[in-house]
Amino acid sequence: MFLLQMRMKAILNRAPSLGVPTHIAIVMDGNGRWATRRLLPRLAGHRQGMESLRRCIRACLERGVAVLTVFAFSSENWNRPAEEVSGLMELLAGALAKEVPQMHADGVRLHFVGERANLSEKVRTGLTTAEQATAGNDRLILNVCFNYGGRWDLVQAAAKLAAAKVEVTEATLASALALAHVADPDLLIRTGGELRLSNFLLWQAAYAELYFSEMLWPDFDEAELDRAIAAYAKRERRYGRVPSPASSSASTSSSRQSQAA
Ligand code: FPP
Repeated sequence: MFLLQMRMKAILNRAPSLGVPTHIAIVMDGNGRWATRRLLPRLAGHRQGMESLRRCIRACLERGVAVLTVFAFSSENWNRPAEEVSGLMELLAGALAKEVPQMHADGVRLHFVGERANLSEKVRTGLTTAEQATAGNDRLILNVCFNYGGRWDLVQAAAKLAAAKVEVTEATLASALALAHVADPDLLIRTGGELRLSNFLLWQAAYAELYFSEMLWPDFDEAELDRAIAAYAKRERRYGRVPSPASSSASTSSSRQSQAA
């Protein structure tokens, strides 16, 4: 346990290249429209979305990103047609069987974040097996938010504290959240052109830099990821403080430096 905690700290403390966010979170939106535009069933869009996710994981590994958190299935996605919901469950089960060995070989550590109680036994077992198989990896933490909602997370954290009779403070609440094993995201990307969070990382995104891309998720590629990272690198992260004198004269200075200030 201690060794695992040390390894996790080592991942989080590793300095990525200048301007590269440590933690990127993504709302992978636009699969349905991608498919509909091609007169394909929506599930074809999700399948292509899986390809895009694979490409994105590789790109994050190459760029030294330490944590990638993706929104794969929201608490509200149960309201979609039954066929699409079961298709997404099958896609997940298939991905667990097909993708995890390569991810493991690439040093990816998987975490599934969300309510598991109403997932099938088969999927639940698959999630646990994948997490256990990759628990010793330290190149990239991949958090897959599945059956997840930011409000669900806040409620389950509050309920945990209440059950343990722990006082609610910012620190105790943060430690009870489902993503307590990683620092908050630095950059949050949403593809598909919509300008909202849709119940994703409501607590953790408080100071994330936001990047909205018109690109539909299946089309998202390394070049668009680099555009998002370049936009992030130009931002000044102030966390409620006034601008630093250096940043008002050189507004494109590295956000990493101002973050540390
Ligand atoms: C939103 O697009 C996307 C989803 C609800 C599913 C995301 C899933 C993947 C990217 C595939 C990877 C999946 C797993 C299980 C790891 P949308 O369907 O809302 O698109 P639209 O806005 O164009 O309709």
